Amino acid sequence: MSPTTAVKPIKFKNPRAQHDFKGRSCSIVGLGSYVPERILTNADLEKTVDTSDEWITTRTGIRERRIAAENEFTSDIASKAALRAMSQAGVTGNQIDLIIVATITPDMLFPSTACLVQQKIGARRAAAFDLEAACSGFIYGLEIGQQFIMSRTYDTVLVIGAEKLSTIIDWSDRNTCVLFGDGGGAAVLQNRPNSHGLLTACMGADGGKAELLCMPGGGSRCPATTQSVANRLHYLRMDGKETFKHAVKAMLTAAQEAMRRCEIDITKIKCIIPHQANRRIIDAVGERLGARPEQLFVNLEKYGNTSAGSVAIALDEAVQSGRIQQGDLLLLIVFGAGLTWGAAVIEW
Ligand code: ACO
Repeated sequence: MSPTTAVKPIKFKNPRAQHDFKGRSCSIVGLGSYVPERILTNADLEKTVDTSDEWITTRTGIRERRIAAENEFTSDIASKAALRAMSQAGVTGNQIDLIIVATITPDMLFPSTACLVQQKIGARRAAAFDLEAACSGFIYGLEIGQQFIMSRTYDTVLVIGAEKLSTIIDWSDRNTCVLFGDGGGAAVLQNRPNSHGLLTACMGADGGKAELLCMPGGGSRCPATTQSVANRLHYLRMDGKETFKHAVKAMLTAAQEAMRRCEIDITKIKCIIPHQANRRIIDAVGERLGARPEQLFVNLEKYGNTSAGSVAIALDEAVQSGRIQQGDLLLLIVFGAGLTWGAAVIEW
């Protein structure tokens, strides 16, 4: 949890380190996550596609992933994570001013999943919208939520990253089906004047590389037709090798920019929470940042890549595990389709 006791403000020369802006600061006051019960192991996948546990673990680090039930949707995953975060924050539905749901697997194209979550968690006063930044969605959400709090527009913002990726995975494509899973995480943001909280968040995008990772069907460019279904256009497609290269570069740049804004270096970071897509990407980014292996938090062996849920779940688990103490500096780093990327520095 972010500190609630009075702490001495850090003096940043760089104005883009946004804490203590006009007497306000944005803290994460509650965290929660939820993953479906059903576990799909690498051994299970060996029975359905031409793959092996050995290939998946050595190339990705993933051992198993969670798969939501047929009648469990992204809004259910998001709501369960949100209720846990609200309970930890001691916040009721009526206190929430804004709900942001980051997802690429909304229940429906419209209305937004955030509106469905609003109903499920009883947040009748809250404005609600979805945010689409793929795996980078949770940091995009934190940054947007922070802006509303710093500008005094809202006092309590709920940011959720949640996915039911199993519905857009081509289970016959070994290149992608071994990588992803379902799950979500949530954070309650509030102004905490005497604490530091979210120090900075930076975001980036490159639409020129949109084709590297996309789902071609279902939108206005290629609406659903018998042909689009036959051509398997309603599944996620990825050029893994190219995506890998861009991921390492973009995550490194974003992390360096976030630390530069706070005038800190990697030695000051207690825990790095990177997007959980591939162990080799995480290790490559960690190495280039000059981080020690023990600074990295990794849980992808249990869940695979849960896209917008990934960093939110990992942050919740890192805190639950006791690895993060009050006053620690955390570095969150994300990368995803778009391409999109981002990083955030948080003082816990
Ligand atoms: N089992 C066995 N063999 C496989 C499998 C599999 N599951 N998948 C691919 N292979 C094969 C390929 O067919 C290829 O065989 P070939 O040489 O005969 O053609 C061989 O393994 C090597 O394939 P590569 O693509 O070179 O494998 P690579 O080492 O690049 O790993 C991977 C592939 C894991 C996809 C990696 O490229 C990766 O992690 N990319 C980044 C993914 C990512 O970060 N996405 C982030 C965003 S996700 C989002 O926003 C929704």
